[in-house]
Amino acid sequence: MINIVIFGAPGAGKGTQACKIADRYHFTHISTGEVIRAEIAAKTPFGQTVEQAIARGELAPDSVVIEIVKNYMLSRGGHSRGNIFDGFPRTIPQAEAFDGILAGLGFKIDLMLDLVVPEEELVQRILARGRESGRADDADESVIRNRIAVYHTRTAAVADYYKAHGKYVAIDGSRSIETNFEAICAEIDKIIAAK
Ligand code: AP5
Ligand code: MG
Repeated sequence: MINIVIFGAPGAGKGTQACKIADRYHFTHISTGEVIRAEIAAKTPFGQTVEQAIARGELAPDSVVIEIVKNYMLSRGGHSRGNIFDGFPRTIPQAEAFDGILAGLGFKIDLMLDLVVPEEELVQRILARGRESGRADDADESVIRNRIAVYHTRTAAVADYYKAHGKYVAIDGSRSIETNFEAICAEIDKIIAAK
């Protein structure tokens, strides 16, 4: 099994690239943002608790997100030929808990791919998507900028965590979707060849 974290600021292209990786390699894709949006849409107790924070561009609590990923690994993820984690881990406590969950199942993270994109490009991409996405956190530029600020204060340090563990690769995410994807596939192919 291969486990990949696809990382980057809001709008960097995590979801776009994760879908393409899942198709090419027959891996399973989990986006914690998608899981949270589905909980909000279904008006579950958890969804109702986090709805306002998500609409402001804040993070959901670590404990709940860790539980979501743990349950995923105990069910679908644990049987997949590969997993792509999109939007998780997003804090250092999540990264540490994730290592524990994976180790308990005999797995590990093989690679973090960090899509690096200039901030103004991020904002423009999200504003463009927001015209049709219906995402509560896409519509308002101040919320988009808050998501990017939260990324810098809470999430960016997770890249250093994976650097320290020798798992980190930066990808210039400012290029076309296809060019970025080819760069990503080259990194994944190296991991597969080394297995
Ligand atoms: P999440 O759903 O993870 O959203 P995000 O990180 O803010 O990122 P996006 O989904 O907006 O962007 P993306 O990087 O996936 O880019 P995409 O491919 O869509 O999280 C949402 C919220 O949920 C968080 O704010 C938080 O509240 C909560 N949450 C989620 N996970 C959590 C966790 N672990 N802990 C706590 N809270 C959590 O691309 C963006 C747009 O650009 C698209 O329109 C796309 O078509 C376009 N595009 C993509 N690539 C390119 C390219 N190369 N060139 C031009 N356009 C491109
Ligand atoms: Mg996404």
